[in-house]
Amino acid sequence: MKYKLLGNTGIRVSQLCMGTMTFGREADRYASEAIFKRCLDHGINFFDCANVYGDGVAETILGELIADHRQQLIVTSKCGAQFESGINSQGGSRRNIIASVEASLRRLKTDYIDIYFLHRFDDHTPLEVSLRALNDLVVQGKVRCIGVSNFSAWQTMKACGLTRQNDWAPVDCIQPMYNLVKRQAEVEILPMARSENLGVMTYNPLGAGLLAGKYGQDHTTGEGRLAVDDMYRKRYRESWMFDAAKQFGEFAVDAGYHPVSLAVAWVSRNKAVTAPIIGARSVEQLDDSLRAADIDLTDQLYDAISRITPRPPSPTDRSEEQIKADNDNN
Ligand SMILES: NC(=O)c1ccc[n+]([C@@H]2O[C@H](COP(=O)([O-])OP(=O)(O)OC[C@H]3O[C@@H](n4cnc5c(N)ncnc54)[C@H](OP(=O)(O)O)[C@@H]3O)[C@@H](O)[C@H]2O)c1
Repeated sequence: MKYKLLGNTGIRVSQLCMGTMTFGREADRYASEAIFKRCLDHGINFFDCANVYGDGVAETILGELIADHRQQLIVTSKCGAQFESGINSQGGSRRNIIASVEASLRRLKTDYIDIYFLHRFDDHTPLEVSLRALNDLVVQGKVRCIGVSNFSAWQTMKACGLTRQNDWAPVDCIQPMYNLVKRQAEVEILPMARSENLGVMTYNPLGAGLLAGKYGQDHTTGEGRLAVDDMYRKRYRESWMFDAAKQFGEFAVDAGYHPVSLAVAWVSRNKAVTAPIIGARSVEQLDDSLRAADIDLTDQLYDAISRITPRPPSPTDRSEEQIKADNDNN
């Protein structure tokens, strides 16, 4: 396992981050513990969580697991997505942010969260309100660094501008979706992150399992997430995505890799990415993602994989910028 600097924070994180969204859901307490231990054995020091994962259960399980290792680990959580049923238990209000962090600290059984994310942009709360509340949490020592997830590039830069203008704790980290069939981040988000030296943890590296090579065009049967979860089924519903996943799976096997390992390695290879956040319901699934850390993708292999799916158009409609972006990533 290699370690990388997380943007401007000076914090060193493992090249893979372990996501805990399955903890207490697809992975029971026992399976979650086995996943956690396997991660530690492989040198992972980076764990991603959120208050909404399993309605707080993931944080509770993670809190028990990290207790004996807290100082060695970098732990995230998030607020802002609808939590339980309260009408004010969502969004970026000062009230919700402070209540959420207090509850997360209790569940995680810790005094501080290393990176605390706004889970998504809130159209109904001025960004100043959220960022001031987050700054206060940093000053109080409850949060070390601030991140934003699912923000567009302009929303992120607006947040960066406001923190600078007000001398508040900076936005250090972003968490966008990114994988071989969801490449929108390449257009503005990842170039912005490189320009600002933001830490980048990308989620959904396998397209929620699509790129694992286990789905045919019929993805409505079985226990996998795309078969049972409507939100993910809609996100990955396009038939071209299944064609691409099939082509990618065959390519991976021909190249001598498990598709899961190669899909994670492809995300990792992007220069803007600090760490893909991997996900698994069992140690067996996890091992395929962990093997990504041993893959040193050549330019040739990286380019061949990248050609399987269309690159999104450049942000300015000028083909010259598209060419520059292509060159920048190599
Ligand atoms: N910020 C956000 O909004 C956001 C959103 C989503 C996730 N996240 C974070 O990112 C983490 C990873 O996201 P993700 O779980 O969506 O990532 P992913 O890598 O796209 O999908 C992981 C899923 O793929 C399947 N899988 C994994 N390894 C496999 C293998 N070897 N063979 C077959 N199937 C395999 C499993 O689902 P099945 O077994 O059910 O098919 C597993 O849960 C989460 O835990 C969370 O921490 C953040």
